[in-house]
Amino acid sequence: MTEDPWRKIGREKITSGEEFVRRRIKGQSHAVTHMLDIVKRAMTGIGQSPRGGRPRGVVFLAGPTGVGKTELAKTITSLLFGDKSAYIRFDMSEFSAEHSDQRLIGAPPGYIGYDVGGELTNAIREKPFSVVLFDEIEKAHPRILDKFLQVLDDGVLTSGRGDRVYFSEAFIVFTSNLGIYVPGPSGERIANVTPEETFEAVRSKVRGEIERHFKQVLNRPEILNRIGENVIVFDFIRPEVANEIFDSMVDNLLKDVSSLGHDVTMSGSAREVLRGLCLSDLSNGGRGIRNQVEAHLINPLSRALFDRGAETRGRYRIQAVRPGPSTSIDLVSEQSS
Ligand SMILES: Nc1ncnc2c1ncn2[C@@H]1O[C@H](COP(=O)(O)OP(=O)(O)O)[C@@H](O)[C@H]1O
Ligand SMILES: [Mg+2]
Repeated sequence: MTEDPWRKIGREKITSGEEFVRRRIKGQSHAVTHMLDIVKRAMTGIGQSPRGGRPRGVVFLAGPTGVGKTELAKTITSLLFGDKSAYIRFDMSEFSAEHSDQRLIGAPPGYIGYDVGGELTNAIREKPFSVVLFDEIEKAHPRILDKFLQVLDDGVLTSGRGDRVYFSEAFIVFTSNLGIYVPGPSGERIANVTPEETFEAVRSKVRGEIERHFKQVLNRPEILNRIGENVIVFDFIRPEVANEIFDSMVDNLLKDVSSLGHDVTMSGSAREVLRGLCLSDLSNGGRGIRNQVEAHLINPLSRALFDRGAETRGRYRIQAVRPGPSTSIDLVSEQSS
């Protein structure tokens, strides 16, 4: 091995990385710190076998829906590569069928699709130095887990056509909702953790359930041995953090609007009404907040600007937000000086 691309990432990126990440991921300070530690380890190569082999880093992000797992994976990619398109993402819910492992590694000789190769093996061959995200792995067919085990163990995957593809420069991120629900007596989903519990309780129950799942349900305790230390549990989005997410979403939106040509401000009372609408239900975490901001701000604002034929640059103020079956806003024109 001649050059290690991980060693060439500027240290200052990671030193200032903490702030970069925390601007995007609100709360979750435990998860952010743990993630950055693993990234630092990947960069220094400490703990890596000198013979190479295993992936440069492996993390398993667990937690409720909409709390920043995928967002953190994207953010780490932008931090390392300056570009979030540099990550390779697989939505594992698309890999739930029995033979979907063939889509990842390619079909064996004589089968349809043999000539195209596998989506994963092709991607890694093209970009060995990358972040690979396997999103929502609990939805994948269990057979795919055996492929992952091969990657985690040896850092090698044999493609359908028999070539060996190496993961030694790859940083692998799994995300999963495992441990948030447990199957009830008749197969129904029962909450294993709730926002009423402390983060400590959530963390230990989620870890316990993940362990049980790999050992008893999947019968793959080996996988757990590979990722055990790198399971990062995310907390629920709690009211204080929800407020921060809301404010940053609204501020960013107004900034975007301004770059599109309109200066829009919002009265304090309008913002508070909007806040109430957006934060009334936190069960979908930040994703729920985003959806509400869309319904109660983005749509009515677009409508109001459109209806006014606001084509030239203007200054406006959102005076009030009026909730309803479809929320509307009072948008007043401000005289530019
Ligand atoms: N901790 C957070 N800080 C800031 N935004 C968040 C956070 N959690 C969720 N969001 C917002 O919610 C959306 C969905 O979050 P995501 O990371 O995709 O959820 P999941 O944990 O299910 O992967 C993100 O695009 C982001 O806008
Ligand atoms: Mg996600």
